[in-house]
Amino acid sequence: MKTIIEPFRIKTVEPLRQTTRAEREQCLRDAHYNLFKVDAAHILIDLLTDSGTSAMSTGQWAAMMRGDESYAGSESFYRLERAVRDLTGFRHVIPTHQGRAAERILFTVMCKPGHLVPNNTHFDTTRANIEYAGAGAVDLPLPEAADTQVRLDFKGNMDVDALDQLIRREGAGRFPLIMVTVTNNSGGGQPVSMANLRAVREVASKYGIPFYLDACRFAENAWFIRRREPGHANKTPKQIAQEMFSLADGCTFSAKKDAFANIGGFLCTNDDRLAAQETNLLILTEGFPTYGGLAGRDLDAIAVGLEEVLDEDYLRYRAASTEYLGRHIADHGVPIVEPPGGHAIYIDAARMLPHIPRGEFPGQALAVELYEHAGIRSVEIGSVMFGDKARYELLRLAIPRRVYTQSHIDYVVEAILEINDRKSELRGMEIVEQPPFLRHFSAKFRKRQPL
Ligand code: F0G
Repeated sequence: MKTIIEPFRIKTVEPLRQTTRAEREQCLRDAHYNLFKVDAAHILIDLLTDSGTSAMSTGQWAAMMRGDESYAGSESFYRLERAVRDLTGFRHVIPTHQGRAAERILFTVMCKPGHLVPNNTHFDTTRANIEYAGAGAVDLPLPEAADTQVRLDFKGNMDVDALDQLIRREGAGRFPLIMVTVTNNSGGGQPVSMANLRAVREVASKYGIPFYLDACRFAENAWFIRRREPGHANKTPKQIAQEMFSLADGCTFSAKKDAFANIGGFLCTNDDRLAAQETNLLILTEGFPTYGGLAGRDLDAIAVGLEEVLDEDYLRYRAASTEYLGRHIADHGVPIVEPPGGHAIYIDAARMLPHIPRGEFPGQALAVELYEHAGIRSVEIGSVMFGDKARYELLRLAIPRRVYTQSHIDYVVEAILEINDRKSELRGMEIVEQPPFLRHFSAKFRKRQPL
């Protein structure tokens, strides 16, 4: 059969509520055209993020009933620890309430002012936590990935020559660790090849610098390696994931992505001395080392999710459904970051709406229009989010795991193509108020009037 179907059936449903255009216009006015401020009850299809928005399986819900809520030595923790060790091979597994808590602990322990941490592309919380520790965050994406239209198999790779040059120029002592994010979220959800991870490992070993993975979407990355990188077609996704982790000295992980959990994360390392310092900090801010800010039942949900996410039928469907959305809009003239990534489709709003200058936020204008037209929530990743540091003006359509069916996605496609047909009518946005922190969460906008 050629049709790739959702590899699950639906046992519990959550109703969606339709709104009228007039209601959506009012919601937008009330929210000052900032979609973070629109209540979820008024959203029909929510593509704001793939984080914490997964549907859990019967297996995960059943495991949650086994959750051991003991303060110390919880059985749930040992089940999670076994699952993580089996997958990653790392000795120390430190649970945290989500990915950024793992980042904060890692960077607080490892970074000092003057340090530099390279990454293929830092996620915004990663960058912020490094900067908060007084160190600098350096992005080293491939130069050819700057063109959204170029199709590379592993467009998320790190520029390893640039990494080597940077370390030689600055001196290895300035680098407490090197990080690679799989898949490269800020770079379009693009995968990183095993060869690239191996090359980074070699540079890290040459200079004696620890190498960490930001492993939020490790399973999606493993699937792209299997499909695209020679020599991996006959391996299971789990074998590929194990090989990826075997190249690193540790990882941070948000279980809200590739573990189908609604909350959770962990930090791993093989370094006993570091683990002791990290655990001390964990107790201070997250909790005892056998729960780390989570309930026992959350730990069980994560342990089961880590196995389920490596199922081949699931990963085949996941990649196919993201690609389905991407191809159906791109083949009808909507410019996206090519090729489609793992967890999201990114529309190149600057290219789609050339009549709206960067200073009038084409990504935000498109996000507002998509909600007003069809009740779909997306997120601007451009000048609203990053200010003058923005490299692109994108609109991200992130796809929650196991949540929406093909007909939902067909609806999204139809809405985007209808907007594309009359895109010249879209007008830019003006910011009327923006605080210095958490800019994109709290900015207030106004629509520019037609000329
Ligand atoms: N690293 C990457 C690559 C991420 O995408 C995220 C979160 C984090 C770290 C932080 O994890 O949210 O559990 O604290 N990304 C979400 C997103 C928020 O929408 O892309 P967290």
